[in-house]
Amino acid sequence: MTNIPSNVQAYYNGAFLPLDQVSISPFDRGFLFGDGVYEVIVSYDSKPFYLDQHMERLERSLKFCRIAPQQDMTEIVEALFEKNRHLGNHLACYLQISRGVDYPRQHQHSSNVEPTIFGYCFAPVIKSFEDKKTGLSLKTVADIRWLHCDIKAITLLPNGLAKQQAIDLGYDDALQIREGEVKETSSGNIFFVKQNTLYTPESDNEILHGVTRKLLSEIAKAEALELVERKIFTEELTEFTGAFLCSTISEITPITQIDEYVYSLNEDLYTRLHLAFNALK
Ligand code: PDD
Repeated sequence: MTNIPSNVQAYYNGAFLPLDQVSISPFDRGFLFGDGVYEVIVSYDSKPFYLDQHMERLERSLKFCRIAPQQDMTEIVEALFEKNRHLGNHLACYLQISRGVDYPRQHQHSSNVEPTIFGYCFAPVIKSFEDKKTGLSLKTVADIRWLHCDIKAITLLPNGLAKQQAIDLGYDDALQIREGEVKETSSGNIFFVKQNTLYTPESDNEILHGVTRKLLSEIAKAEALELVERKIFTEELTEFTGAFLCSTISEITPITQIDEYVYSLNEDLYTRLHLAFNALK
């Protein structure tokens, strides 16, 4: 059995308590139906990083799912970072909100069901700038997710299976492809490089609108790089000279291989993007 740490303060339905003391009903619709949404936020030196943008996305996800918690989500996240300062200077906070506990089991939900809110922090292990230069390898896999990947739903079964499939074949992560179009990795957005231009798939309903993706787009413009948001097809993968993935947890990470095709590191560009990103912390 996995050991759940007791030195982490969690939030669960109105109370702060040690993480190993949280227990959730099997009749929670999150467990039975994957009926819920979540958000991931990091803090650097005790300052939450672009918290408003994460909270706006959470609001959108909740609204789409018609889940309406009464509590102030921003306050909960800030309190979790504060109460877990002892874990380190760089923390990640997962906030999970399900529709709540409902009985009997039925697809539709009762009108009086109260959302379950659970949050906790941990110190993420991220690779150093130098270590990231090795780059990640991606395996293209069919994107079998639903048509609302812009909603940060807790139903991550396809994402998990995609990553496992890639790992089993000796790659680091999966690159999800829908009808010949490149979408995103199992848990991050993707950018490609050709000369002085960055290319990234359009932010429609088939990808998550990443907070880091937005930051990277702004950085690209500030760095006088051209940024093109458009459909990217698998046949084009060999035409790019480099690629990066980005997410709240992994920040900006170079990709040096997709299937058998090898990309160069683009070290100068990576250094510029990395420095500009760090300056935002
Ligand atoms: N994942 N795409 C997917 C499918 C994701 O799960 C994530 C984030 C991103 C990047 O979004 P952002 O830059 O806002 O973190 C893109 C988080 C880190 C996770 O689920 O753990």
